[in-house]
Amino acid sequence: MKWKQIGSVIVVDKESEDISQFLEFPDVTTVVQIVNIKGRTRKPVVKVLYGNQTETIHKENKCFFKLDVSKLMWSKGNTNERMRIANLVQKGETVVDMFAGIGYFSIPIAVHSPLNKLYSIEINPVAFHYLNENLILNKIQDKVQTFLGDSNKITPQLDADRIIMGYIGNTWEYLESALECITEGGVIHYHETVPEKIRFKRPIYRLKKAAGDRKVTVLNQKIIKNYSPGVLHAVVDARVESI
Ligand SMILES: C[S@@+](CC[C@H](N)C(=O)[O-])C[C@H]1O[C@@H](n2cnc3c(N)ncnc32)[C@H](O)[C@@H]1O
Repeated sequence: MKWKQIGSVIVVDKESEDISQFLEFPDVTTVVQIVNIKGRTRKPVVKVLYGNQTETIHKENKCFFKLDVSKLMWSKGNTNERMRIANLVQKGETVVDMFAGIGYFSIPIAVHSPLNKLYSIEINPVAFHYLNENLILNKIQDKVQTFLGDSNKITPQLDADRIIMGYIGNTWEYLESALECITEGGVIHYHETVPEKIRFKRPIYRLKKAAGDRKVTVLNQKIIKNYSPGVLHAVVDARVESI
């Protein structure tokens, strides 16, 4: 049985006798099993095995993330990536988070970096509700503007020095919008799930194709985690410039 702790909730992948061990943890109120994950909003289907308090506040890297684990996902495997991006943001930057969720990337960026402005876009009203609550919890409302809607419609209306594309699915279908939004010399953090054999080749090919005549310089390429057997979650950091 695999498990993780999100705030006061333990999330397990299988129902098992072993859950009694978690009840001894002093701060645990609830144990849930993830039965399935559905659709582009990655909505979990959960079975509550113990307790009933599925809304919780998770703390990570001095940031607070309020969420309801019966409605929204939390990916532990992305912890280092969230801080890596926050540490890259330079003084005065304008950043767009195209798939903000509850603020997985937006919160660490606004808490830890000297940015100018962050625009956070989210399509799922439930995640959007927690995103806005989390801005208040972390006292970063003045730095972040949120948008409820499709980032393919909203992103092209904005200008950014840095764009976070922290979504896996059909992420490449959002590249054109990101390229309309990125300013000269700006950086895109592009995520994809990709077969092991073509780990960085396909994301880089897609970035270059979407950029057309513009120059794409790969600054970094990283595997975030194993996604499924033979499939990796990769991220490519790329600078975009006119030739
Ligand atoms: C689940 S988060 C990614 C997880 C996150 N990277 C982490 O560190 O745990 C991706 C978010 O993108 C949102 N999303 C999907 N399609 C979207 C779109 N077209 N426009 C805006 N948000 C979208 C989903 O609702 C979801 O909240």
